Amino acid sequence: MPTITTIQDLKDLHERRVPRMFYDYAESGSWTEQTFHENTTDFEKIRLRQRVAVDMTGRSTAGQMIGEDVSMPVALAPVGSTGMQHADGEILAAQAAEAFGVPFTLSTMSICSIEDVAANTSKPFWFQLYAMKDKRFVERVIQRAKDAKCSALVLTLDLQILGQRHKDIKNGLSIPIRPTVPNLIDLATKWRWIAAMAKTKRRQFGNIVGHIDGISDMSSLSIWAAESFDPKLNWDEVKEIKKMWGGPLILKGILDAEDAKMALNVGADAIIVSNHGGRQLDGALSSIRALPAILDAVGDKVEVHMDGGIRSGQDVLKALALGAKGTYIGRAFVHGLGAMGGPGVTKALEIIHKELDTTMALCGETNVADLGRHNLLVPKDFEGQWQSP
Ligand SMILES: Cc1cc2nc3c(=O)[nH]c(=O)nc-3n(C[C@H](O)[C@H](O)[C@H](O)COP(=O)(O)O)c2cc1C
Repeated sequence: MPTITTIQDLKDLHERRVPRMFYDYAESGSWTEQTFHENTTDFEKIRLRQRVAVDMTGRSTAGQMIGEDVSMPVALAPVGSTGMQHADGEILAAQAAEAFGVPFTLSTMSICSIEDVAANTSKPFWFQLYAMKDKRFVERVIQRAKDAKCSALVLTLDLQILGQRHKDIKNGLSIPIRPTVPNLIDLATKWRWIAAMAKTKRRQFGNIVGHIDGISDMSSLSIWAAESFDPKLNWDEVKEIKKMWGGPLILKGILDAEDAKMALNVGADAIIVSNHGGRQLDGALSSIRALPAILDAVGDKVEVHMDGGIRSGQDVLKALALGAKGTYIGRAFVHGLGAMGGPGVTKALEIIHKELDTTMALCGETNVADLGRHNLLVPKDFEGQWQSP
């Protein structure tokens, strides 16, 4: 067993242990993958100010996201098909998040159902909703999230149609895996994954199969999924969903200051500056670059969170110091899960927490709430000299 000290170590193990099509599904972006790559490389452009001779005892990374206490402002992002990275993946990740004291967000497209995750955790988690054409499904799933005592609804706005990921097409991504020769050769080396999968019954989209008329198996589900995202989603519909839900609402997928203002107008409790981990609009700004303009536009009126490209505690610190009140990790926890199941998610959180805590101290700060632009060296052209309309 290699010694694990970084998220990259978990990623290497994830790649070795999980079937190629599911590893690639996670570790890819749309089209040229420019935005996917810049989500991480743009973090490197920001440098930290080292401060010395500051009493660094009594440090705290604790804070709040939408009024909920968190041991650090790092939530687990909604990730579809997490239960294919490791058997019972959503339950294991939710349990790890709960033990660590950070929020877990369950995707609409999860393998373990809302009810299943609720039955296997003791603290409320957040539920992520995709707006679907089928309004009865939306109503029912919101009711199910309420019944499961989910404490926030994360409504994703940047996936009305799907960005294309070439690898998924080339790999013939499917759930369950089709027994083709390349897939069987690949699976022959993934015995750990197969052994865990053989022991669970959770191998379908748990929030959907059995909850929609006419959807009882995966073949009809794949047709439904391809046709079901609502291309007509608009701000009036967002308002309707907010009313239907009636609790804290987080709008995910905001990358433009104008949209941030719209989100404010519909009464969002928080927004997530996000480009879906570079999986949707290729060529869009990285999240960390888009963050400052959005903070300038609405940062004093609504809680601004961000995700995209976070692979270390240093990245978290940079986002917080720019002004984000919370961050999310997607691939960073998925790498942990694929590598080692639940303990791998805990490991990912531990790595990020330790990096955040130590980096904060070396910046001369003892509390995440005190982080600010004064801790950063941001290149003058960081936000870019873009021609705006
Ligand atoms: C494999 C994968 C599946 C995802 N599925 C969803 C999803 O079901 N719903 C959603 O709102 N976002 C989804 N996302 C986007 C994440 O919530 C998040 O925005 C993104 O992963 C952040 O970037 P990072 O992976 O670099 O941390 C997914 C991301 C990945 C990598």
